[in-house]
Amino acid sequence: MFHIRSAALVGLDAVPVEVEADVSRSLPNFIIVGLPDAAIRESRERVRVAVKRSGFAFPSTKVTVNLAPADIKKEGPAYDLPIAVAILVAHGTLVPPAGKVDRALFLGELAFDGTLKPVAGILPVAIAAASLGFTDLYVPAANAAEAALAPGVTVFPVASLTALVRHLQNEEAIEPQPASAWTPLSPRIETDFAHIKGQTAAKRALEIAAAGGHNVLLSGPPGSGKTLLARAFPGILPAMTFEESLEVTKIYSIAGLTDRDRPVVAVRPFRAPHHSASGVALIGGGSWPRPGEVSLAHRGVLFLDEFPEFQRQVLENLRQPLEDGTVTISRAHGTLRFPAKFMLMAAQNPCPCGNAGDPDSICACPPAQVVRYGRRVSGPLLDRIDLHVEVPKIPTNDIFAAAPTESSAAVRERVEQARAIQRGRLVSEDIFTNAEMTPMLLKKFCRIDGAAEALLRASVDRLRLSVRGMTRVLKVSRTIADLSAAPDITAAHLAEALQFRERRALAAT
Ligand SMILES: Nc1ncnc2c1ncn2[C@@H]1O[C@H](COP(=O)(O)OP(=O)(O)OP(=O)(O)O)[C@@H](O)[C@H]1O
Ligand SMILES: [Mg+2]
Repeated sequence: MFHIRSAALVGLDAVPVEVEADVSRSLPNFIIVGLPDAAIRESRERVRVAVKRSGFAFPSTKVTVNLAPADIKKEGPAYDLPIAVAILVAHGTLVPPAGKVDRALFLGELAFDGTLKPVAGILPVAIAAASLGFTDLYVPAANAAEAALAPGVTVFPVASLTALVRHLQNEEAIEPQPASAWTPLSPRIETDFAHIKGQTAAKRALEIAAAGGHNVLLSGPPGSGKTLLARAFPGILPAMTFEESLEVTKIYSIAGLTDRDRPVVAVRPFRAPHHSASGVALIGGGSWPRPGEVSLAHRGVLFLDEFPEFQRQVLENLRQPLEDGTVTISRAHGTLRFPAKFMLMAAQNPCPCGNAGDPDSICACPPAQVVRYGRRVSGPLLDRIDLHVEVPKIPTNDIFAAAPTESSAAVRERVEQARAIQRGRLVSEDIFTNAEMTPMLLKKFCRIDGAAEALLRASVDRLRLSVRGMTRVLKVSRTIADLSAAPDITAAHLAEALQFRERRALAAT
């Protein structure tokens, strides 16, 4: 029996799938077995029509197609192409020369006229192809640029079933896709730091966050510039490395969100889901599991504006990815993991009217309501936020100040330098930023001097820091030290990091 190979995605990984077709002399029928989903069952109609309209004979007897192994759920329309090829071979219409398809992978959705439509999830398959022992990858022409980002495999852009058959029979070769070049892009600056007046403390906090990959909570009254600051944040983020770009592009590929002409995601993602977002939208999942916002924000920013307005249950789901950098999705056949290393940027008002704590305004909310509002976001979640930043109403003088403030590009330069220092230190550990350090690395890289240790001891008691809180303070201190290229963490670095601990803990003292 002749096998045509394709691939299935399990999370971000690709596993090989064998497609075999049998044409027997029984009554006309066409069945597909091997755990296909609805889209694959519909594939019967597409394949039948596409084969006929391409000018080939479709068997007038019984056709059985088996997708193996049977215990992996096959999803989506990408099996159209391997199924069509397997049937043409089984029927004797297509006779590929020996060795032509042994190490080839086929993926693609067929239109009725026999042309190919792009499918989602090409990049993870292309990246896995070489390590699975495949040399040739046949994909829809529209997916070819994305596939050609992967090293070690020849990508053939397939325009139609007819073109593929002619190629496989050595009648007319399809030109392989040239390898796609990768260039890091500078972030598009929508709002420049230079246009944000005052808010020096908040800007400094964002610089630290960008440099070390830390989570931030911005709190302040309405109109003080929280949303503005958050929107300006991508402009100071460092450029992505090639590895980061591939990781992110894989996720976007699975979500079907890659751009045909510029398939690679070369700018850090900035995702800003609305507060009505569901748990599945945020975390991922569904019957055909898609990455959620936390994964789409991988290596970038997840911005949750109006933080307390999100459903508490939905927010609680963030706890695991914030800690582990991955998200686990349970489903009928075991669990799946998607990467989710994002910076959380949250913004909130101190109370429903927004004026609590402002010396110049009167808060109209009953005290109980202010307390309730503050409790909407759980303590464990707030504990995972390294930088708690006050964004007060700016003083009138600042509003009318003529002195220009620093541009995003200037801040970004310092961020890049601090990142380069971290990369030098962490490259052998396979991580990029201080925020990702494990407890072991923390011990290794966050040495503090005597004065700093005394300060830390005192603060643990005074601020009632959890152990997690303490490790997060140390990581932020490391970043602050890196921003001034200091080899060791001093009491001054630590003191600045401690300023950004949770307000509630401070209020309790
Ligand atoms: N520091 C600032 N410098 C320049 N413009 C500002 C500043 N703060 C606020 N603004 C102006 O005010 C507008 C509203 O600010 P923004 O939406 O960021 O407020 P906010 O803090 O998010 O308020 P809310 O709590 O109501 O969401 C901005 O679009 C901007 O035009
Ligand atoms: Mg806002």
